[in-house]
Amino acid sequence: MTQGQFDKASELVAALHQDSGGIFPGQRAAHALGRIFMGSFTPTGVAKTISRAAHFAAAVPVTVRFSGDSGDPGLKPSAVIGMAMKFYLPDGTNTDLLALNIPAFLGRTPEEFVGFLSAKAPDPKTGQPDMAKLGPFLASHPNIARVVQSLQSGAVPASLATASYRAMHAFRFVNAAGDGRWARYHFEPAAGVVAQQAADLAKQPRDYLFEELEGRLRRAPVAFRLDLEFAQAGDPLDDPSAIWPAGRQRVNVGRLELTAPITETQIGNQSMLHDPTQVTDGIEISPTDQVVSARRGSYLVSLAQRTGGWKRRSSVLAQAVLAEAGHRA
Ligand code: HEM
Repeated sequence: MTQGQFDKASELVAALHQDSGGIFPGQRAAHALGRIFMGSFTPTGVAKTISRAAHFAAAVPVTVRFSGDSGDPGLKPSAVIGMAMKFYLPDGTNTDLLALNIPAFLGRTPEEFVGFLSAKAPDPKTGQPDMAKLGPFLASHPNIARVVQSLQSGAVPASLATASYRAMHAFRFVNAAGDGRWARYHFEPAAGVVAQQAADLAKQPRDYLFEELEGRLRRAPVAFRLDLEFAQAGDPLDDPSAIWPAGRQRVNVGRLELTAPITETQIGNQSMLHDPTQVTDGIEISPTDQVVSARRGSYLVSLAQRTGGWKRRSSVLAQAVLAEAGHRA
C-alpha cells in the first residue's frame, strides 16, 4: 500500500464520521451497531479444486458479526446490513470475509465513494437530501445510481437470516496446482430471501433484527450457502460498483451454519477487527481494485480511533494473539 492510500484512508474515515453525524467514541466509523454469532463453515467437495485455502478443504469454526451500516450506534439497522466473518484456520491464523446485502458498492474508487457521501449529505435547513446536489451526481455516476435505485423500493430484510450478502470485490482463487480463477462471493440464505417494508421495521425496537436472529437460533441453526460467481473474459476485476452480466457460472463452495450468539470477551478479541484484505494462501485480492486497497488503511484508522490510538492498538492486537495462543495451548 502506498503512502497516498494511507492519506486516503484518513479522508475516508472522516467522510464516514461526517455521514454518521459525528464521532461516536469507542465505535466503528461505520457499522457501529452489531452483534456476533458463532458457527461453522463446511466446504463442498468441489471447493478444494478451486482454492487451496485451508477452509476450502475442511470444516472450520467461524464467527459472524452482523451490523447496520451507520457509524451511529443508536441507529437501527435497516436497508443496508453488513456481515463480517472470520474463519478460524487449523494453523491458528484467521481470515476475514466482509459482505453487504446490496447488489454492488457505491463507488468504483475511494474518490467516487467520498463524492457520493458528500452528494447525499442532507441539506442542513430541511434535513432532507439536497436534490440539487444528489441529482446531478447520480446522473453522472450511473453505477452508483443503479445501487441507490435498488434501495428505493422500501423493501428491507425481514430477518438477518433472509438476506443475500455479497463481498462485491473480485478475488483470485488459486488451487494446489497453481491454477487461478477470478470470482465473486455470494451468501444465499437457506431460509430464502424474505423482505419487509421499511415502514414495518421502523415500528420495531432498535435491536429487533438481532433479537429476531437470536430467537431463530434458539429453535434451530441458521444457514447460508456460499457460492462463487466466476468472471468471464472482459468482466471488470477491479470495480466493486459494477454488476457482472447475468448468466455467469456459479459454484456452491460451502455452507455457513450459525448456532448461537457469542461476545468479543468469549472470543478473546475485544477489538474484533475484520479486515477485507486479510485473505489466506489460495485466495488473493485484486491488485488493481482501488477500493479494496484503500479499505485496509481505513479499517486500521477506525480501529486506532475506537481503541484509544495507534499505541493502544498494538497492545489490543497482542492481547488477541496471546489469547488465541492460550486457547491453542
Ligand atoms: C471505500 C470503501 C469503504 C470504506 C472506506 C469502508 C470503511 C469501513 C470502516 C472504517 C469500517 C469500520 C472498521 C472497524 O472499526 O473495525 C467498516 C466496517 C465494515 N465495512 Fe466497510 N468500507 C468500505 C467498503 C465496504 C465494502 C465494499 C463492504 C462490503 C463488501 C464493506 C463492508 C463492511 C462491513 C461488513 C463492516 C463491519 C465490520 C465489522 O463488523 O467488524 N465495506 N467499513
